[in-house]
Amino acid sequence: MTPTENHFPSGFPLSRGRRNRYQQSRRTMLAEHRLSASDFIAPMFITEGAEVKEPISSMPDYHRLSLDLAVHQAASWHELGITAILLFVMVPDAKKDNEGTEALNENGLMQMAVKRIKEAVPGLTVMTDVALDPYSSYGHDGVVRDGRIVNDETVDVLARMSVSHARAGADYVAPSDMMDGRIGEIRLALEANGFPDTGILAYSAKYASGFYGPFRDALESAPGFGDKKTYQMDPANVREAVREARMDEGEGADMVMVKPGLPYLDVVRAVRESVRVPVAVYNVSGEYAMIKAAAEKGWLDEEAAMLESLLACKRAGADVIATYWAEKAVRLLRESQK
Ligand code: PBG
Repeated sequence: MTPTENHFPSGFPLSRGRRNRYQQSRRTMLAEHRLSASDFIAPMFITEGAEVKEPISSMPDYHRLSLDLAVHQAASWHELGITAILLFVMVPDAKKDNEGTEALNENGLMQMAVKRIKEAVPGLTVMTDVALDPYSSYGHDGVVRDGRIVNDETVDVLARMSVSHARAGADYVAPSDMMDGRIGEIRLALEANGFPDTGILAYSAKYASGFYGPFRDALESAPGFGDKKTYQMDPANVREAVREARMDEGEGADMVMVKPGLPYLDVVRAVRESVRVPVAVYNVSGEYAMIKAAAEKGWLDEEAAMLESLLACKRAGADVIATYWAEKAVRLLRESQK
């Protein structure tokens, strides 16, 4: 055998990478990244009514919950060690319009959900989705005029919507709309209305992605015309994501988010290296559905694929991960610690 840099002339390797892998205890000690319950933000879909637990066909094992059950779910997640939830509401068609009227209803489903959950589980961090799509008769994230999604008028509604969520007790508002300048306007509105401690989780780099389909099933919020490409980002771009994240940091975002997750881990890394606020990543509905579907067919191991996906998000530099796997991941992590 010819000696190489890693070989004694006798042929033994100088360094053996496998030595650090021989036992679980060595592997555990030397892991560069770890998952824990406090890494996750668990999304929750809330619907009107009582005792409602509706399956979502493209998201097996995930449900839309009425408020009573949502409160229980929040309490049990908190008990389990989950530190944050992100609320989405399903709005009946009759309450949808082009102005986001229902989004501003102080007694609307979102506002009531925040109040009830914060009352029952004050220690849980409650985050709210801020965008018009669940409330929009067009299924778009903003106000539509002459077939266009208008920016500044939308931002005005989003700022008022954020204040209404803050008034209900939200810990963070999470604008997912991708309008320009909304973080600054929301920050100003929160300050002006006496909510200096309400945080903003900005969806800074949200791509026009094919991975949101199951979520739109969950809320029946698919766009009625066109697509979202005039506001959500082009999957081809990464510098643009850095620019968006820096703008949002400058406008007062407390966290910036990249979305989706797995197909955009290079973006997570680039953003992590460019801002100083915590970086979140959204492991979205389509990523969840892919693993579920393949596992149902027996094509891959659901638990292994899920934990690996979540760990990959951390390895890429995410501080927190919004994921439909939160509960399952925390249960598995607990078991593995026993
Ligand atoms: C809409 C919104 C979407 C998601 C979160 N907020 C969908 C969209 O932009 O159409 C997707 C989340 C997921 O797929 O898990 N404001």
